[in-house]
Amino acid sequence: MTFETRFPDGFLWGAATASFQIEGSTTADGRGPSIWDTFCDIEGNVINKDTGDPACDHYRRMPEDVALMKELGLDAYRFSVAWPRVIPTGVGAVNAAGLDFYSRLVDELLDNGIRPFVTLYHWDLPQTLDDRGGWLNREIKDWFAEYTGVVVDALGDRVKNWTTLNEPWCSSLLGYSLGHHAPGHTDPVEGLIAAHHLMLAHGTAVPIIREKCPDAQVSITLNPSQVWGPDEPTDDPTDTPNDADADAIRRADNIYNGIFFGPLFHGAYPQSLLDDTAHLTDHSWIHDGDLEVINAPLDNLGVNNYFPTRVRHVDGAVQPLPGLDGVEDVAPRPPLTDMGWEISPQGHHDILMRSAQECGLPVYITENGSAWPDEVDTGPEGAAVHDGERTAYLHGHLDAVRRAIDDGADIRGYFAWSLMDNFEWAFGYSKRFGIVHVDYDTQVRTIKDSGREYARIIAAHHGE
Ligand code: NOJ
Repeated sequence: MTFETRFPDGFLWGAATASFQIEGSTTADGRGPSIWDTFCDIEGNVINKDTGDPACDHYRRMPEDVALMKELGLDAYRFSVAWPRVIPTGVGAVNAAGLDFYSRLVDELLDNGIRPFVTLYHWDLPQTLDDRGGWLNREIKDWFAEYTGVVVDALGDRVKNWTTLNEPWCSSLLGYSLGHHAPGHTDPVEGLIAAHHLMLAHGTAVPIIREKCPDAQVSITLNPSQVWGPDEPTDDPTDTPNDADADAIRRADNIYNGIFFGPLFHGAYPQSLLDDTAHLTDHSWIHDGDLEVINAPLDNLGVNNYFPTRVRHVDGAVQPLPGLDGVEDVAPRPPLTDMGWEISPQGHHDILMRSAQECGLPVYITENGSAWPDEVDTGPEGAAVHDGERTAYLHGHLDAVRRAIDDGADIRGYFAWSLMDNFEWAFGYSKRFGIVHVDYDTQVRTIKDSGREYARIIAAHHGE
């Protein structure tokens, strides 16, 4: 299969990772424990009882990994900083050794002509802060502001692309309402409160980044999902969901998308989300002035997207997510990835269009990719991984990006998830998303066929 689509000049090609998923060395050089270390230690939370150690041992192999990025021809690399490495107890004393790791990483990237995109928070909250209520404690906006200041002071002379939070949906609703992620709570209202405090922390951090790094491009990464009824999309525009399903779609769209798009880009929660959750909470955790803080102007939006969401109305259906009364999840439509996620370039296109329109800003696709049960093939020409499904997914989704650009969305770049196989949260090491294979016994890295194809696409884009 060939892929020859042209992207606009200056379009940026990258790959992404996150600290807890690749670094390992969770007790090295003064790193404090995070909520994910705690969560992994509780039986039943993570498949195979996997933990953040050794992950990809990236903390010790960083130069080798940057060399891999160079070999792939990446223009940019998106990584996150581990708060518990930088301030092991969440607030207070700064750990110079932890901070120095990221400073060396940034230097290594720049020496190799790779632009760093830094995410400040990709889910590894210092455990000490969770002990004080974590994202349920409003004070976290000040803790996050302090941490932000420390990191931007240290790296802001060289890093210009700053993202406050990665997928606050997961940090809040997956962590506090569904319990699938740390800290593992299962309370519908806690998810709403955590989401609000995440956005408040984001909005508080934005001016700090700007003050300390005046030429910063400031962003947040969301994971919006196209919400469809059971039979969408259809070619027939008159074939629309019935009223009950349309209400289910609206409710789901609020809790997946509107909950962040509203406050961040329109200065208000969707009124219908407040109405749909009014029987659960009086929303008194939204204080006067919060929405002005949250609505701080940004320079671009990061979009992570992998699959669409399907729902329908069922009388009496109950869900652990708030506001989804009468909403039932509908099974994804094959083909599915190894995560069981529906493969839909159309859904990717549609949510990119929606995201661009909601934010009115340039968009970067900060994550997209697929998991497959890859195996290393050791043939006469050396080790290889023939991951044709991942390459097909990549082609399909890049084609959707191209169509979204043609349809008017200002999309500036694409980051493959992930640079390499890594710790897939509750799925541990059982799911492989990398364009580079990692053998966890030997830590040998093998560029997969999809990685070679990605490198070819990048080189062709640059006219090489
Ligand atoms: C989004 C998250 O940001 C990332 O950490 C995760 O591994 C991928 N999705 C795949 O699930």
